[in-house]
Amino acid sequence: HWRMSRGPSGTCVARGLFYQQSAAMSTLLINQPKYAWLKELGLSEDNDGVYNGNWGGKGEVITSYCPANNEPIARVRQATMAEYEETVQKSRDAWKVWADIPAPKRGEIVRQIGDALRKKIKVLGSLVSLEMGKIYVEGVGEVQEYVDVCDYAVGLSRMIGGPVLPSERPGHALIEMWNPVGLVGIITAFNFPVAVYGWNNAIALICGNVCLWKGAPTTPLTSVAVTKIVAQVLEQNNLPGAICSMTCGGADIGTAMSKDERVDLVSFTGSTHVGKMVAMMVQERFGRNLLELGGNNAIIVFEDADLNLVVPSAVFASVGTAGQRCTTTRRLMLHGSIHDVVVERVAKAYKQVRIGDPWDPSTMYGPLHTKQAVDQYLAAIEQAKQQGGTVVCGGKVMDRPGNYVEPTIITGLAHDAPIVHTETFVPILYVLKFQTEEEAFAWNNEVKQGLSSSIFTKDMGRVFRWLGPKGSDCGIVNVNIPTSGAEIGGAFGGEKHTGGGRESGSDSWKQYMRRSTWCVNKINALCQITPHWNISVCSTSLWQTLYHSLNTAM
Ligand code: UN1
Repeated sequence: HWRMSRGPSGTCVARGLFYQQSAAMSTLLINQPKYAWLKELGLSEDNDGVYNGNWGGKGEVITSYCPANNEPIARVRQATMAEYEETVQKSRDAWKVWADIPAPKRGEIVRQIGDALRKKIKVLGSLVSLEMGKIYVEGVGEVQEYVDVCDYAVGLSRMIGGPVLPSERPGHALIEMWNPVGLVGIITAFNFPVAVYGWNNAIALICGNVCLWKGAPTTPLTSVAVTKIVAQVLEQNNLPGAICSMTCGGADIGTAMSKDERVDLVSFTGSTHVGKMVAMMVQERFGRNLLELGGNNAIIVFEDADLNLVVPSAVFASVGTAGQRCTTTRRLMLHGSIHDVVVERVAKAYKQVRIGDPWDPSTMYGPLHTKQAVDQYLAAIEQAKQQGGTVVCGGKVMDRPGNYVEPTIITGLAHDAPIVHTETFVPILYVLKFQTEEEAFAWNNEVKQGLSSSIFTKDMGRVFRWLGPKGSDCGIVNVNIPTSGAEIGGAFGGEKHTGGGRESGSDSWKQYMRRSTWCVNKINALCQITPHWNISVCSTSLWQTLYHSLNTAM
Protein backbone atom coordinates (compact mmCIF):
# COMPACT_ATOMS: atom_id res chain seq x y z
CA HIS A 1 0.00 0.00 0.00
CA TRP A 2 2.30 2.69 -1.19
CA ARG A 3 1.34 5.84 -2.94
CA MET A 4 2.38 6.34 -6.52
CA SER A 5 3.64 9.63 -7.85
CA ARG A 6 1.17 12.37 -8.40
CA GLY A 7 1.78 14.92 -11.10
CA PRO A 8 1.02 18.60 -10.61
CA SER A 9 -2.65 18.86 -11.34
CA GLY A 10 -4.21 21.47 -13.55
CA THR A 11 -1.05 22.31 -15.44
CA CYS A 12 -1.70 24.05 -18.70
CA VAL A 13 0.05 22.49 -21.69
CA ALA A 14 0.15 25.83 -23.51
CA ARG A 15 2.35 27.35 -20.82
CA GLY A 16 4.88 24.62 -21.38
CA LEU A 17 7.18 22.48 -19.33
CA PHE A 18 8.78 25.37 -17.45
CA TYR A 19 5.52 26.35 -15.85
CA GLN A 20 4.75 22.74 -15.04
CA GLN A 21 8.08 22.27 -13.29
CA SER A 22 8.05 25.52 -11.36
CA ALA A 23 4.47 24.93 -10.25
CA ALA A 24 5.45 21.54 -8.89
CA MET A 25 8.56 22.95 -7.22
CA SER A 26 6.80 25.77 -5.50
CA THR A 27 4.39 23.37 -3.83
CA LEU A 28 7.10 21.12 -2.39
CA LEU A 29 7.71 21.59 1.32
CA ILE A 30 11.46 21.42 0.76
CA ASN A 31 11.25 24.77 -1.04
CA GLN A 32 9.56 26.51 1.86
CA PRO A 33 11.87 28.37 4.29
CA LYS A 34 10.29 26.52 7.23
CA TYR A 35 11.65 23.24 5.89
CA ALA A 36 15.02 24.52 4.65
CA TRP A 37 16.68 22.26 7.26
CA LEU A 38 15.96 19.30 4.95
CA LYS A 39 18.88 20.52 2.83
CA GLU A 40 21.23 19.84 5.78
CA LEU A 41 20.59 16.17 5.01
CA GLY A 42 21.69 16.67 1.39
CA LEU A 43 18.12 16.48 0.12
CA SER A 44 16.75 18.54 -2.76
CA GLU A 45 13.54 18.70 -4.83
CA ASP A 46 14.59 15.64 -6.81
CA ASN A 47 16.72 12.97 -5.22
CA ASP A 48 18.59 9.96 -6.50
CA GLY A 49 17.09 6.78 -5.09
CA VAL A 50 19.96 4.46 -5.97
CA TYR A 51 23.37 4.23 -4.33
CA ASN A 52 26.07 1.70 -5.11
CA GLY A 53 29.17 3.85 -4.82
CA ASN A 54 27.59 6.17 -7.35
CA TRP A 55 24.20 7.80 -7.10
CA GLY A 56 21.51 7.10 -9.68
CA GLY A 57 17.83 6.51 -10.21
CA LYS A 58 16.34 6.17 -13.66
CA GLY A 59 13.07 4.52 -12.61
CA GLU A 60 9.69 5.80 -11.55
CA VAL A 61 9.67 9.15 -9.79
CA ILE A 62 7.78 9.07 -6.51
CA THR A 63 6.70 12.00 -4.41
CA SER A 64 6.93 11.71 -0.66
CA TYR A 65 4.02 13.25 1.25
CA CYS A 66 3.81 14.51 4.82
CA PRO A 67 1.14 12.51 6.69
CA ALA A 68 0.36 15.49 8.94
CA ASN A 69 -0.94 17.64 6.07
CA ASN A 70 -0.63 15.50 2.91
CA GLU A 71 1.64 18.14 1.33
CA PRO A 72 4.39 16.88 -1.00
CA ILE A 73 7.85 17.10 0.60
CA ALA A 74 10.19 16.22 -2.28
CA ARG A 75 10.65 13.59 -5.00
CA VAL A 76 12.83 10.48 -5.34
CA ARG A 77 13.85 8.67 -8.51
CA GLN A 78 13.60 4.94 -7.88
CA ALA A 79 15.74 2.13 -9.28
CA THR A 80 15.14 0.42 -12.61
CA MET A 81 15.75 -3.32 -12.87
CA ALA A 82 18.95 -2.58 -14.77
CA GLU A 83 20.14 -0.42 -11.87
CA TYR A 84 19.18 -3.18 -9.43
CA GLU A 85 21.34 -5.62 -11.45
CA GLU A 86 24.27 -3.23 -11.50
CA THR A 87 23.92 -2.58 -7.75
CA VAL A 88 23.88 -6.27 -6.81
CA GLN A 89 27.00 -6.79 -8.91
CA LYS A 90 28.78 -3.85 -7.31
CA SER A 91 27.73 -5.01 -3.83
CA ARG A 92 29.18 -8.44 -4.45
CA ASP A 93 32.40 -6.90 -5.73
CA ALA A 94 32.52 -4.71 -2.62
CA TRP A 95 32.15 -7.81 -0.46
CA LYS A 96 35.47 -9.10 -1.75
CA VAL A 97 37.12 -6.06 -0.15
CA TRP A 98 34.98 -5.90 3.01
CA ALA A 99 35.23 -9.60 3.93
CA ASP A 100 39.02 -9.34 4.09
CA ILE A 101 39.01 -6.47 6.56
CA PRO A 102 39.44 -7.75 10.14
CA ALA A 103 36.24 -7.64 12.16
CA PRO A 104 37.48 -5.03 14.72
CA LYS A 105 38.46 -2.75 11.83
CA ARG A 106 34.98 -3.21 10.36
CA GLY A 107 33.77 -2.26 13.82
CA GLU A 108 35.77 0.97 13.57
CA ILE A 109 33.84 1.88 10.39
CA VAL A 110 30.56 1.13 12.19
CA ARG A 111 31.74 3.35 15.07
CA GLN A 112 32.24 6.17 12.57
CA ILE A 113 28.75 5.57 11.16
CA GLY A 114 27.36 5.89 14.68
CA ASP A 115 29.26 9.15 15.19
CA ALA A 116 28.09 10.55 11.86
CA LEU A 117 24.49 9.75 12.87
CA ARG A 118 25.01 11.43 16.24
CA LYS A 119 25.92 14.68 14.47
CA LYS A 120 22.67 14.60 12.45
CA ILE A 121 20.40 13.07 15.06
CA LYS A 122 18.02 16.01 15.44
CA VAL A 123 17.69 16.84 11.79
CA LEU A 124 17.28 13.19 10.77
CA GLY A 125 14.76 12.68 13.58
CA SER A 126 12.85 15.71 12.25
CA LEU A 127 12.77 14.16 8.77
CA VAL A 128 11.39 10.91 10.20
CA SER A 129 8.72 12.94 11.96
CA LEU A 130 7.88 14.88 8.79
CA GLU A 131 7.85 11.90 6.43
CA MET A 132 6.62 9.01 8.60
CA GLY A 133 4.39 11.15 10.85
CA LYS A 134 5.61 9.90 14.25
CA ILE A 135 6.22 12.50 16.95
CA TYR A 136 9.61 14.24 17.06
CA VAL A 137 10.95 12.49 20.18
CA GLU A 138 10.16 9.14 18.60
CA GLY A 139 11.85 10.20 15.36
CA VAL A 140 15.00 11.18 17.25
CA GLY A 141 14.58 8.05 19.39
CA GLU A 142 14.85 5.73 16.47
CA VAL A 143 17.99 7.43 15.17
CA GLN A 144 19.32 6.95 18.72
CA GLU A 145 18.55 3.22 18.35
CA TYR A 146 20.74 3.10 15.23
CA VAL A 147 23.49 4.93 17.16
CA ASP A 148 23.14 2.51 20.08
CA VAL A 149 23.23 -0.55 17.88
CA CYS A 150 26.40 0.82 16.25
CA ASP A 151 28.01 1.00 19.71
CA TYR A 152 26.78 -2.50 20.41
CA ALA A 153 28.15 -3.79 17.10
CA VAL A 154 31.55 -2.17 17.71
CA GLY A 155 31.91 -4.22 20.89
CA LEU A 156 30.61 -7.29 19.14
CA SER A 157 33.25 -6.91 16.43
CA ARG A 158 35.83 -8.04 19.01
CA MET A 159 33.70 -10.75 20.54
CA ILE A 160 31.91 -12.86 17.94
CA GLY A 161 33.23 -16.35 17.42
CA GLY A 162 32.60 -20.00 17.97
CA PRO A 163 33.77 -22.43 20.62
CA VAL A 164 36.71 -24.79 20.38
CA LEU A 165 35.10 -28.11 21.30
CA PRO A 166 36.81 -31.18 22.74
CA SER A 167 37.57 -33.53 19.87
CA GLU A 168 37.46 -37.24 20.61
CA ARG A 169 40.32 -37.84 18.22
CA PRO A 170 43.79 -37.40 19.72
CA GLY A 171 45.66 -34.39 18.39
CA HIS A 172 42.64 -32.90 16.63
CA ALA A 173 40.84 -29.59 17.07
CA LEU A 174 37.08 -29.29 16.69
CA ILE A 175 36.12 -25.69 16.07
CA GLU A 176 32.96 -23.80 15.19
CA MET A 177 33.79 -21.06 12.76
CA TRP A 178 31.42 -18.26 11.78
CA ASN A 179 31.75 -16.64 8.37
CA PRO A 180 29.67 -13.86 6.84
CA VAL A 181 26.81 -14.93 4.58
CA GLY A 182 27.81 -12.36 1.96
CA LEU A 183 25.14 -9.98 0.66
CA VAL A 184 22.29 -9.12 3.03
CA GLY A 185 19.16 -7.68 1.41
CA ILE A 186 17.29 -5.49 3.91
CA ILE A 187 13.65 -4.64 3.25
CA THR A 188 12.20 -2.31 5.87
CA ALA A 189 8.76 -0.93 6.72
CA PHE A 190 7.48 2.65 6.92
CA ASN A 191 6.96 2.62 10.69
CA PHE A 192 10.63 2.45 11.72
CA PRO A 193 12.32 3.86 8.62
CA VAL A 194 15.72 4.31 10.35
CA ALA A 195 16.00 1.94 13.34
CA VAL A 196 15.15 -1.33 11.64
CA TYR A 197 17.70 -0.69 8.89
CA GLY A 198 20.18 0.30 11.60
CA TRP A 199 19.78 -2.94 13.57
CA ASN A 200 20.39 -4.99 10.44
CA ASN A 201 23.06 -2.78 8.94
CA ALA A 202 25.37 -2.36 11.95
CA ILE A 203 25.37 -6.03 12.89
CA ALA A 204 25.53 -7.35 9.32
CA LEU A 205 28.53 -5.09 8.67
CA ILE A 206 30.69 -6.17 11.59
CA CYS A 207 29.94 -9.80 10.65
CA GLY A 208 31.58 -9.07 7.29
CA ASN A 209 28.54 -8.71 5.08
CA VAL A 210 27.61 -6.03 2.59
CA CYS A 211 24.07 -4.64 2.63
CA LEU A 212 21.52 -3.74 -0.01
CA TRP A 213 18.61 -1.72 1.38
CA LYS A 214 15.11 -1.20 0.05
CA GLY A 215 13.18 1.05 2.43
CA ALA A 216 9.42 1.59 2.32
CA PRO A 217 8.20 3.37 -0.82
CA THR A 218 6.45 5.96 1.37
CA THR A 219 9.58 6.93 3.32
CA PRO A 220 12.15 7.23 0.50
CA LEU A 221 13.62 10.55 1.68
CA THR A 222 14.61 8.95 4.99
CA SER A 223 16.29 6.07 3.11
CA VAL A 224 18.21 8.57 0.96
CA ALA A 225 19.22 10.75 3.93
CA VAL A 226 20.47 7.78 5.97
CA THR A 227 22.36 6.36 3.00
CA LYS A 228 24.05 9.74 2.41
CA ILE A 229 25.36 9.69 6.00
CA VAL A 230 26.61 6.09 5.72
CA ALA A 231 28.07 6.63 2.23
CA GLN A 232 30.13 9.58 3.39
CA VAL A 233 31.79 7.44 6.07
CA LEU A 234 32.62 4.69 3.58
CA GLU A 235 33.95 7.14 1.01
CA GLN A 236 36.07 9.02 3.58
CA ASN A 237 37.69 5.68 4.45
CA ASN A 238 38.33 4.91 0.76
CA LEU A 239 36.03 1.93 0.92
CA PRO A 240 33.61 0.93 -1.85
CA GLY A 241 30.29 2.66 -1.30
CA ALA A 242 28.52 -0.50 -2.45
CA ILE A 243 29.25 -1.99 0.99
CA CYS A 244 25.99 -0.19 1.91
CA SER A 245 23.90 -0.02 -1.25
CA MET A 246 20.36 1.22 -1.65
CA THR A 247 17.74 0.67 -4.33
CA CYS A 248 14.53 2.59 -3.68
CA GLY A 249 11.54 0.87 -5.20
CA GLY A 250 8.37 -1.05 -4.67
CA ALA A 251 7.30 -4.66 -4.97
CA ASP A 252 9.40 -5.09 -8.14
CA ILE A 253 12.66 -4.57 -6.24
CA GLY A 254 11.45 -6.56 -3.22
CA THR A 255 10.54 -9.50 -5.45
CA ALA A 256 13.84 -9.30 -7.31
CA MET A 257 15.75 -9.42 -4.01
CA SER A 258 13.68 -12.34 -2.75
CA LYS A 259 14.26 -14.39 -5.90
CA ASP A 260 17.90 -13.46 -6.37
CA GLU A 261 20.34 -16.27 -5.54
CA ARG A 262 23.06 -13.65 -5.12
CA VAL A 263 21.24 -12.17 -2.12
CA ASP A 264 22.38 -14.58 0.57
CA LEU A 265 20.04 -13.38 3.32
CA VAL A 266 16.80 -11.45 2.92
CA SER A 267 15.86 -9.60 6.09
CA PHE A 268 12.26 -8.49 5.80
CA THR A 269 10.29 -6.31 8.23
CA GLY A 270 6.65 -5.68 7.40
CA SER A 271 3.26 -7.31 7.23
CA THR A 272 2.69 -11.02 7.71
CA HIS A 273 0.97 -11.11 4.32
CA VAL A 274 3.96 -9.74 2.37
CA GLY A 275 6.43 -11.53 4.65
CA LYS A 276 4.89 -14.84 3.71
CA MET A 277 5.36 -14.09 0.01
CA VAL A 278 8.97 -13.10 0.63
CA ALA A 279 9.57 -16.24 2.70
CA MET A 280 8.15 -18.52 0.00
CA MET A 281 10.27 -16.93 -2.72
CA VAL A 282 13.42 -17.11 -0.62
CA GLN A 283 12.73 -20.69 0.49
CA GLU A 284 12.02 -21.72 -3.09
CA ARG A 285 15.71 -21.08 -3.84
CA PHE A 286 16.87 -22.36 -0.42
CA GLY A 287 18.01 -18.86 0.50
CA ARG A 288 17.97 -17.55 4.02
CA ASN A 289 15.45 -15.18 5.43
CA LEU A 290 15.04 -13.21 8.63
CA LEU A 291 11.43 -12.23 9.18
CA GLU A 292 10.08 -9.59 11.50
CA LEU A 293 6.33 -9.57 10.82
CA GLY A 294 3.08 -8.65 12.51
CA GLY A 295 2.10 -8.73 16.13
CA ASN A 296 -1.18 -8.92 18.03
CA ASN A 297 0.17 -8.04 21.41
CA ALA A 298 -1.70 -8.29 24.69
CA ILE A 299 -1.35 -6.77 28.12
CA ILE A 300 -2.97 -8.94 30.80
CA VAL A 301 -3.89 -7.14 34.02
CA PHE A 302 -4.58 -9.28 37.09
CA GLU A 303 -6.61 -8.25 40.10
CA ASP A 304 -3.47 -7.64 42.22
CA ALA A 305 -1.77 -5.34 39.68
CA ASP A 306 -0.56 -1.84 40.52
CA LEU A 307 -3.02 0.21 38.47
CA ASN A 308 -0.74 3.25 38.65
CA LEU A 309 1.66 1.27 36.49
CA VAL A 310 -1.02 -0.26 34.30
CA VAL A 311 -2.73 2.92 33.12
CA PRO A 312 0.27 4.82 31.70
CA SER A 313 1.71 1.58 30.30
CA ALA A 314 -1.48 0.71 28.46
CA VAL A 315 -1.80 4.24 27.08
CA PHE A 316 1.86 4.41 26.00
CA ALA A 317 1.74 1.05 24.24
CA SER A 318 -1.61 1.47 22.49
CA VAL A 319 -1.46 5.16 21.52
CA GLY A 320 2.31 5.56 21.02
CA THR A 321 3.34 5.97 17.37
CA ALA A 322 -0.42 6.19 16.72
CA GLY A 323 -0.68 2.42 17.10
CA GLN A 324 1.78 1.79 14.27
CA ARG A 325 4.43 -0.28 16.05
CA CYS A 326 4.59 -4.00 15.55
CA THR A 327 4.79 -4.11 19.37
CA THR A 328 1.71 -1.89 19.90
CA THR A 329 -0.75 -3.22 22.49
CA ARG A 330 -3.86 -4.26 20.57
CA ARG A 331 -5.56 -6.37 23.25
CA LEU A 332 -5.98 -5.26 26.86
CA MET A 333 -7.18 -8.20 28.94
CA LEU A 334 -8.60 -7.15 32.28
CA HIS A 335 -9.61 -9.34 35.19
CA GLY A 336 -13.36 -9.06 35.78
CA SER A 337 -12.90 -7.45 39.21
CA ILE A 338 -10.96 -4.45 37.87
CA HIS A 339 -12.33 -4.25 34.31
CA ASP A 340 -14.59 -1.25 34.72
CA VAL A 341 -12.21 0.85 36.78
CA VAL A 342 -9.29 0.29 34.37
CA VAL A 343 -11.44 1.06 31.31
CA GLU A 344 -12.55 4.28 32.95
CA ARG A 345 -9.03 5.34 33.90
CA VAL A 346 -7.48 4.43 30.52
CA ALA A 347 -10.28 6.21 28.64
CA LYS A 348 -9.74 9.29 30.81
CA ALA A 349 -6.02 9.20 30.05
CA TYR A 350 -6.74 8.85 26.30
CA LYS A 351 -8.61 12.16 26.42
CA GLN A 352 -5.52 13.86 27.83
CA VAL A 353 -3.24 12.74 24.99
CA ARG A 354 -2.13 15.89 23.18
CA ILE A 355 -2.82 15.57 19.45
CA GLY A 356 -1.01 17.84 17.04
CA ASP A 357 1.72 18.32 14.47
CA PRO A 358 4.21 15.52 15.02
CA TRP A 359 7.21 17.88 15.00
CA ASP A 360 5.70 20.11 17.73
CA PRO A 361 7.58 19.12 20.93
CA SER A 362 4.40 19.08 23.04
CA THR A 363 2.58 16.66 20.74
CA MET A 364 2.12 13.09 22.02
CA TYR A 365 0.10 11.70 19.15
CA GLY A 366 0.37 12.36 15.42
CA PRO A 367 -1.30 11.20 12.21
CA LEU A 368 -1.52 7.79 10.61
CA HIS A 369 1.03 7.29 7.87
CA THR A 370 -1.35 7.00 4.90
CA LYS A 371 -4.90 7.63 3.81
CA GLN A 372 -5.26 3.87 3.31
CA ALA A 373 -4.57 3.40 7.03
CA VAL A 374 -7.43 5.80 7.79
CA ASP A 375 -9.72 3.61 5.67
CA GLN A 376 -8.48 0.50 7.49
CA TYR A 377 -9.17 2.21 10.82
CA LEU A 378 -12.77 2.99 9.85
CA ALA A 379 -13.35 -0.50 8.44
CA ALA A 380 -11.99 -2.14 11.62
CA ILE A 381 -14.27 -0.03 13.84
CA GLU A 382 -17.25 -0.97 11.69
CA GLN A 383 -16.38 -4.68 11.90
CA ALA A 384 -15.82 -4.46 15.65
CA LYS A 385 -19.28 -2.94 16.12
CA GLN A 386 -20.83 -5.64 13.96
CA GLN A 387 -19.09 -8.30 16.04
CA GLY A 388 -20.53 -6.94 19.29
CA GLY A 389 -18.03 -4.25 20.32
CA THR A 390 -18.83 -0.92 21.96
CA VAL A 391 -16.72 2.14 21.21
CA VAL A 392 -16.07 3.76 24.58
CA CYS A 393 -13.54 6.29 23.37
CA GLY A 394 -12.61 7.73 19.97
CA GLY A 395 -13.82 6.03 16.81
CA LYS A 396 -13.77 8.96 14.41
CA VAL A 397 -11.57 10.55 11.76
CA MET A 398 -10.50 13.99 12.94
CA ASP A 399 -11.58 17.14 11.19
CA ARG A 400 -8.17 18.57 10.36
CA PRO A 401 -5.66 18.26 7.51
CA GLY A 402 -3.60 15.07 7.44
CA ASN A 403 -4.42 11.47 8.31
CA TYR A 404 -5.57 12.01 11.89
CA VAL A 405 -7.88 9.58 13.65
CA GLU A 406 -8.99 9.47 17.26
CA PRO A 407 -7.27 6.86 19.41
CA THR A 408 -9.97 4.32 20.09
CA ILE A 409 -11.00 1.88 22.83
CA ILE A 410 -13.51 -0.88 22.11
CA THR A 411 -15.00 -3.09 24.83
CA GLY A 412 -17.40 -6.01 24.90
CA LEU A 413 -15.89 -8.19 22.15
CA ALA A 414 -15.37 -11.91 22.50
CA HIS A 415 -11.71 -12.91 22.92
CA ASP A 416 -11.92 -14.81 19.64
CA ALA A 417 -13.94 -12.31 17.58
CA PRO A 418 -12.36 -12.20 14.11
CA ILE A 419 -11.46 -8.50 14.39
CA VAL A 420 -9.66 -9.13 17.71
CA HIS A 421 -7.54 -11.73 15.96
CA THR A 422 -6.69 -9.33 13.13
CA GLU A 423 -3.72 -6.98 13.30
CA THR A 424 -4.97 -3.63 12.04
CA PHE A 425 -2.02 -1.25 12.11
CA VAL A 426 -3.96 1.62 13.72
CA PRO A 427 -4.66 2.91 17.27
CA ILE A 428 -7.59 0.68 18.22
CA LEU A 429 -7.42 -1.11 21.57
CA TYR A 430 -9.74 -4.05 22.19
CA VAL A 431 -10.52 -4.57 25.87
CA LEU A 432 -11.38 -8.14 26.88
CA LYS A 433 -12.69 -9.36 30.24
CA PHE A 434 -11.29 -12.57 31.73
CA GLN A 435 -11.78 -14.49 34.99
CA THR A 436 -8.87 -16.94 35.38
CA GLU A 437 -5.16 -17.01 34.75
CA GLU A 438 -5.51 -20.09 32.61
CA GLU A 439 -8.05 -18.34 30.40
CA ALA A 440 -5.93 -15.18 30.06
CA PHE A 441 -2.74 -17.08 29.14
CA ALA A 442 -4.69 -19.16 26.62
CA TRP A 443 -6.18 -16.04 25.01
CA ASN A 444 -2.74 -14.46 24.82
CA ASN A 445 -1.48 -17.47 22.87
CA GLU A 446 -4.49 -18.23 20.69
CA VAL A 447 -3.74 -15.58 18.03
CA LYS A 448 -1.61 -16.40 14.99
CA GLN A 449 1.03 -13.81 15.84
CA GLY A 450 3.62 -14.21 18.59
CA LEU A 451 5.60 -11.01 19.01
CA SER A 452 5.15 -9.25 22.35
CA SER A 453 3.16 -9.78 25.55
CA SER A 454 2.93 -8.42 29.09
CA ILE A 455 1.33 -9.23 32.42
CA PHE A 456 0.78 -6.88 35.33
CA THR A 457 0.78 -8.70 38.67
CA LYS A 458 2.60 -8.89 42.01
CA ASP A 459 2.24 -12.67 42.28
CA MET A 460 5.70 -14.19 41.80
CA GLY A 461 4.35 -17.67 41.18
CA ARG A 462 2.25 -16.31 38.35
CA VAL A 463 5.23 -14.37 36.96
CA PHE A 464 7.24 -17.56 36.62
CA ARG A 465 4.30 -19.48 35.15
CA TRP A 466 4.05 -16.67 32.55
CA LEU A 467 7.77 -16.93 31.75
CA GLY A 468 7.71 -20.74 31.62
CA PRO A 469 6.73 -23.34 29.03
CA LYS A 470 2.99 -22.94 29.59
CA GLY A 471 3.15 -19.16 29.73
CA SER A 472 3.43 -16.67 26.89
CA ASP A 473 4.45 -18.12 23.51
CA CYS A 474 5.79 -14.77 22.27
CA GLY A 475 9.35 -13.68 21.50
CA ILE A 476 9.01 -10.81 23.98
CA VAL A 477 7.58 -11.67 27.38
CA ASN A 478 7.28 -8.76 29.80
CA VAL A 479 6.20 -8.30 33.39
CA ASN A 480 4.86 -5.00 34.75
CA ILE A 481 5.99 -3.09 31.66
CA PRO A 482 4.09 -2.66 28.39
CA THR A 483 4.49 -4.60 25.12
CA SER A 484 6.32 -1.89 23.19
CA GLY A 485 9.66 -0.25 23.83
CA ALA A 486 11.85 -3.33 23.36
CA GLU A 487 15.56 -2.66 23.99
CA ILE A 488 18.20 -3.15 21.31
CA GLY A 489 20.36 -5.33 23.58
CA GLY A 490 17.86 -8.18 23.67
CA ALA A 491 17.10 -10.30 20.61
CA PHE A 492 14.06 -8.74 18.96
CA GLY A 493 11.43 -10.78 17.16
CA GLY A 494 8.65 -13.26 17.61
CA GLU A 495 7.21 -16.66 16.90
CA LYS A 496 4.49 -18.17 14.67
CA HIS A 497 3.17 -15.71 12.08
CA THR A 498 5.58 -13.08 13.38
CA GLY A 499 8.15 -15.01 11.40
CA GLY A 500 10.63 -16.40 13.94
CA GLY A 501 13.49 -14.02 13.12
CA ARG A 502 15.61 -12.22 15.70
CA GLU A 503 17.27 -8.91 14.95
CA SER A 504 19.60 -6.67 16.90
CA GLY A 505 20.84 -7.79 20.33
CA SER A 506 21.97 -10.95 22.14
CA ASP A 507 23.22 -13.61 19.70
CA SER A 508 21.16 -12.39 16.75
CA TRP A 509 24.47 -11.73 14.94
CA LYS A 510 24.38 -15.47 14.18
CA GLN A 511 21.50 -14.84 11.79
CA TYR A 512 23.89 -12.82 9.61
CA MET A 513 26.57 -15.52 9.49
CA ARG A 514 26.99 -19.10 8.39
CA ARG A 515 28.47 -21.67 10.72
CA SER A 516 31.04 -24.21 9.67
CA THR A 517 32.33 -26.96 11.91
CA TRP A 518 36.06 -27.38 11.51
CA CYS A 519 37.97 -30.49 12.40
CA VAL A 520 41.68 -30.08 12.05
CA ASN A 521 44.42 -32.61 12.61
CA LYS A 522 46.88 -30.46 14.49
CA ILE A 523 49.93 -32.66 13.99
CA ASN A 524 50.33 -33.22 10.31
CA ALA A 525 47.47 -33.32 7.94
CA LEU A 526 47.97 -36.68 6.25
CA CYS A 527 50.79 -38.56 7.97
CA GLN A 528 49.06 -39.07 11.31
CA ILE A 529 45.52 -39.82 10.31
CA THR A 530 43.59 -41.20 13.27
CA PRO A 531 40.64 -43.42 12.42
CA HIS A 532 37.39 -42.39 13.94
CA TRP A 533 35.32 -45.18 15.45
CA ASN A 534 32.06 -44.24 13.79
CA ILE A 535 33.41 -43.97 10.24
CA SER A 536 31.84 -47.35 9.99
CA VAL A 537 30.98 -49.07 13.23
CA CYS A 538 31.26 -52.61 11.85
CA SER A 539 34.44 -52.05 9.94
CA THR A 540 36.57 -50.11 12.42
CA SER A 541 39.31 -52.69 12.41
CA LEU A 542 39.25 -52.75 8.62
CA TRP A 543 39.72 -48.98 8.53
CA GLN A 544 42.45 -49.20 11.16
CA THR A 545 44.32 -51.57 8.90
CA LEU A 546 43.86 -49.22 5.96
CA TYR A 547 45.01 -46.20 7.97
CA HIS A 548 47.96 -48.16 9.26
CA SER A 549 49.02 -49.10 5.76
CA LEU A 550 48.53 -45.51 4.57
CA ASN A 551 50.64 -44.19 7.44
CA THR A 552 53.33 -46.79 6.76
CA ALA A 553 53.27 -46.06 3.05
CA MET A 554 53.88 -42.37 3.73
C1 UN1 B 1 8.58 -2.30 15.01
O1 UN1 B 1 7.50 -1.79 15.29
O2 UN1 B 1 8.81 -2.73 13.86
O3 UN1 B 1 9.45 -2.30 20.80
C2 UN1 B 1 9.70 -2.39 15.94
C3 UN1 B 1 9.50 -1.23 20.21
C4 UN1 B 1 10.62 -0.89 19.27
C5 UN1 B 1 10.64 -1.79 18.12
C6 UN1 B 1 9.42 -1.76 17.28
N1 UN1 B 1 11.89 -0.88 19.92
O4 UN1 B 1 8.66 -0.42 20.35
